[in-house]
Amino acid sequence: GYDISALMKETGNVTLDVGFVNTASCKSAITYIDGDQGILRYRGYPIDQIAENASFLEVAALLIDGELPSQARLDEITQAVAKASVLPEGLEKIFDAFPTGAHPMLILASVVPALGTYYADALSVKDDAAIDKATAVLLGAVPTLAAYSYRKSIGESFIAPDASLGYVENFLHMMFGGDVDQATADALDMLFTLHGDHEQNCSASTVRMVGSAEADLFQSITAGIGALSGPLHGGANSAVLEMLEKIQSTGDSAEDFMDKVKNKVDGVKLMGFGHRVYKSYDPRAAIVKKATHSILEKNGKDEQLELAMGLEERALKDDYFVQRKLYPNVDFYTGLIYKSMGFPTNMFTVLFAIGRMPGWIAQWREQNKDAAKKIGRPRQVYVGATERDYPTK
Ligand code: ACO
Repeated sequence: GYDISALMKETGNVTLDVGFVNTASCKSAITYIDGDQGILRYRGYPIDQIAENASFLEVAALLIDGELPSQARLDEITQAVAKASVLPEGLEKIFDAFPTGAHPMLILASVVPALGTYYADALSVKDDAAIDKATAVLLGAVPTLAAYSYRKSIGESFIAPDASLGYVENFLHMMFGGDVDQATADALDMLFTLHGDHEQNCSASTVRMVGSAEADLFQSITAGIGALSGPLHGGANSAVLEMLEKIQSTGDSAEDFMDKVKNKVDGVKLMGFGHRVYKSYDPRAAIVKKATHSILEKNGKDEQLELAMGLEERALKDDYFVQRKLYPNVDFYTGLIYKSMGFPTNMFTVLFAIGRMPGWIAQWREQNKDAAKKIGRPRQVYVGATERDYPTK
């Protein structure tokens, strides 16, 4: 829609790349994606091997440190994170300020910077010890903040962390109380690992952009949470469930709904489909789809799973999707698993934020150490009014 040569004549020699479709903002050694072949690797390790073998904290260490952790390093991280899961005295009171029913993603985005106020020794961006401290605090405290956001959103009292439990077990305990089902914890751990990092996506780029101004990790991660909340990004996982519910409540058939999508009626999209980089099946979606089957089949037939599979089956055969290379992304099936675990829809993107935390931190830290780093400051192509005189009275 732009006449590039006319705009360049007016504004000089800049590159116009709306949405950064073709512009790399950095060099990175963390995550590799080949979108055409559906390949995803963390630090060289294929995502399917990661999902099969690594715990979430191992993945966090791998992403942040660059190598798989030794047992000693894993123990160190596990302890630091368990310690940080206990919130600093007084912070809890901030939750009183939020109305019951507040969206937990908004609460989370409000309390992460508040957490930083208690850690003045973790705010320097020049001091490695401060950065390590902020890293452990964020990894450890965010699941607590997330669980408390949920408890607040439903008007229930908090359940304190239990440092004797594993990372994911502790989170589930703070969410729902009672004994934690190990199969649920293992499945959630695997889903967190799948979300660990995804190179320069919208939220990671946001974290880097804010970090490029030498803003501390708490501020930078908060901005990433905001970016993740959008339905075109991490918010898609809840949008998928809302879409399935809407199809069910309107009584539309899968075919009716797909016609609306293809005719772009009211801008309706098949949420959980499409990706800027993947032009074939998102390898994470393939793993999640398999897990969805094994987790949901325990409970017998699930109507929403059947509906989702019907939509996918149609899409994969339909010219509209085939020509545009639209395949399920990681968000298409995750919501069904989260729902079966007892999470309400408005918590799905919070779960994504917990999983993505190591990636955001790793991206921020990599940039922070990059000798070639520069403040992020895009140019623009100005298309507004030319000079004109202000009307005099
Ligand atoms: N349903 C229907 N049509 C779609 C969809 C979809 N889910 N996704 C893309 N399209 C269409 C667009 O309308 C466009 O059609 P056109 O050529 O007729 O104009 C074409 O496919 C290309 O799409 P773009 O929007 O230009 O692709 P872009 O790379 O900018 O956007 C995005 C990628 C945001 C993921 C998009 O596919 C989308 O909105 N998907 C639904 C939301 C979603 O699932 N987001 C999660 C992404 S993964 C993640 O963040 C974890």
